[in-house]
Amino acid sequence: MKNAFTHITALLSTCALLLTACGGSNTSTNSTNKIIPIGIAVAQTSNVALLGQEQVAGAKIAEKYFNDKGGINGTPFKLVFQDTAGDEAGTINAFQALINKDKVVGIVGPTLSQQAFSADPIAERSKIPVLGPSNTAKGIPEIGDYIARVSAPVSVVAPNSVKAAIKLNPNIKRVAVFYAQNDAFSKSETEIFQQTVKEQGLELVTVQRFQTSDTDFQSQATNAINLKPDLVIISGLAADGGNLVRQLRELGYKGLIVGGNGLNTSNILPVCKALCDGVLIAQAYSPEHPGEINAAFRKAYVDQYKKEPPQFSAQAFAAVQVYVEALKSLDQKSKVNQLQIQELRTELNKQLLTGKYNTPLGEIGFTPIGEVVQKDFYVAQIKMESDGSKGKFTFLK
Ligand code: ALA
Repeated sequence: MKNAFTHITALLSTCALLLTACGGSNTSTNSTNKIIPIGIAVAQTSNVALLGQEQVAGAKIAEKYFNDKGGINGTPFKLVFQDTAGDEAGTINAFQALINKDKVVGIVGPTLSQQAFSADPIAERSKIPVLGPSNTAKGIPEIGDYIARVSAPVSVVAPNSVKAAIKLNPNIKRVAVFYAQNDAFSKSETEIFQQTVKEQGLELVTVQRFQTSDTDFQSQATNAINLKPDLVIISGLAADGGNLVRQLRELGYKGLIVGGNGLNTSNILPVCKALCDGVLIAQAYSPEHPGEINAAFRKAYVDQYKKEPPQFSAQAFAAVQVYVEALKSLDQKSKVNQLQIQELRTELNKQLLTGKYNTPLGEIGFTPIGEVVQKDFYVAQIKMESDGSKGKFTFLK
């Protein structure tokens, strides 16, 4: 498998080089291609698409919204989608296609931090800006000068849900923590959860490990339940996380459950159904956030999907917005359609880090290394109808 993959990667790289070489002046500048291409590299297939499909939805709403408002000072932009699927290899291929074939000005992606640690260095070497729409592990902006994110890190988001659990049940003492040990984000998030548990004076009674590909959690769940925890905290992704919640309840666990950022999607509801009820998840977005842009985003989302917009969609919208507004500012200084693609990518990267953006997430900006600066965070609790057919995230006050 590895050899076959290496071979394919080598072939793709050769093709990419040939494309660049064959493209000549027609593709090396943006001037012959009036529509400005922005790349979206998220998981459209695999289990990770439970998160990625929400990102596609948010990005497409942004594409329509900002093009309807005149695009980049009158020049339209288009989103070019490349499916990363759920792994690193797919992400590398998607990034290479966007950089070398589609010649995008910047990339929004990937879905997972696990994928970002593999693919972002490729963008960094090619000097093309990357905005992580959902990568929340420690160390993402530090990958390089061209890597930033709109997704607030685990250190900022995760403690909120533990504090909310303590507020709901001040008698919590014993905590069991679960995390997916094959996933970079889950490993990073569990560190913050475990640190918060200690800082809050709670007792960490066990740390249970699993894989994001696991479907059977009987042994870890039983081990934890035997230690009588009154709070369980899970860092994993949507499918595994949803299954773990379901099996903990089926085995009789009655206490509160905190899910991490990888469980922050209504796509877990069909997995744990009625047993999802009560799960607490910290949020970097609230549909109630005041202001015109969130109202427009929320309306577009609700009209299309008949439910409130989730965090992953709002963050993808915000990432596209950052590119659009940075391109507009840049265009006022030097017409972006007349810049060589490489110069445009470099100037865009500098420009985007200096701006302030009034997004559905609230006002955001970046530190000089590309870490998002954001003010407002929330915690939501899943409320299911008793037959388990429907449910929603209700925001705690
Ligand atoms: N927040 C998750 C990650 O960073 C999706 O991988």
